[in-house]
Amino acid sequence: MDKIAERLKRIKTGKILDVATGGGQFVNLLMNSLGKYDKIIGIDTNKKAAQAFETNFKDKPVEFQNKDAYKIDFDDESFDMVSISNSLHHFEDIDKILSEMKRVLKKDGYFIISEMHCEKGQTETQKTHILLHHWWASVDSRLGIYHEETLKKEAIKQLIEELDLKEREFFDYTHQIEDPKDPKLTEYLLNSIDPYVNRISEHKDFEMLKQTGNELKERLKNIGYSSASLVFVIGKK
Ligand SMILES: C[S@@+](CC[C@H](N)C(=O)[O-])C[C@H]1O[C@@H](n2cnc3c(N)ncnc32)[C@H](O)[C@@H]1O
Repeated sequence: MDKIAERLKRIKTGKILDVATGGGQFVNLLMNSLGKYDKIIGIDTNKKAAQAFETNFKDKPVEFQNKDAYKIDFDDESFDMVSISNSLHHFEDIDKILSEMKRVLKKDGYFIISEMHCEKGQTETQKTHILLHHWWASVDSRLGIYHEETLKKEAIKQLIEELDLKEREFFDYTHQIEDPKDPKLTEYLLNSIDPYVNRISEHKDFEMLKQTGNELKERLKNIGYSSASLVFVIGKK
């Protein structure tokens, strides 16, 4: 993250909107990396995110709002920066999300996109993340939750080209994990598999996806896990 962190350090901005913010993992990265910011608003449809924000960002200029990214009801040109991380593949109409984000961004404001991808050439431990992610997407789809498999790098770049941002900078990033079999992380991931698939216990594909979940557990134990590579883009409106 060195090059990206270095670049973010040189950005001094004001009000930020983080779309599909989840528990605020990306908000945390922005807070710790930007040269200056005034306030960050994170939006997500998952109400549980509110609790995570309260715990993680107590006394910080950070706020959670329960909003649907398809209907961002903020005024035109009301943010100095907009961001979205690891969420493009959660939307059926990605263009709509990106154009809404551009609408609320001020002229010359920063647009940041960070998205993991499933491009070939990643290590066996990274493939564990990609396979796990594909499995999460399969389970979510059975619940009617839109969740695509991770996008190809070129598809992400194409979406960004179409946004027509100025001064685009692309970074390829791979997180260097010290121990792909880190006991704490492995235990956390192993314990997350059954509850994840049990959400579809009534579905006809339950046994099949449970079996894949068990294979993933073996893979986590034998091969290990590290984060998939991602594309990080900074541009201006
Ligand atoms: C993989 S998480 C990404 C969380 C965070 N941005 C990160 O980088 O770790 C994807 C998030 O998209 C959210 N999401 C899905 N559909 C949404 C929608 N229509 N509006 C807002 N958020 C949505 C989910 O609730 C989830 O928190």
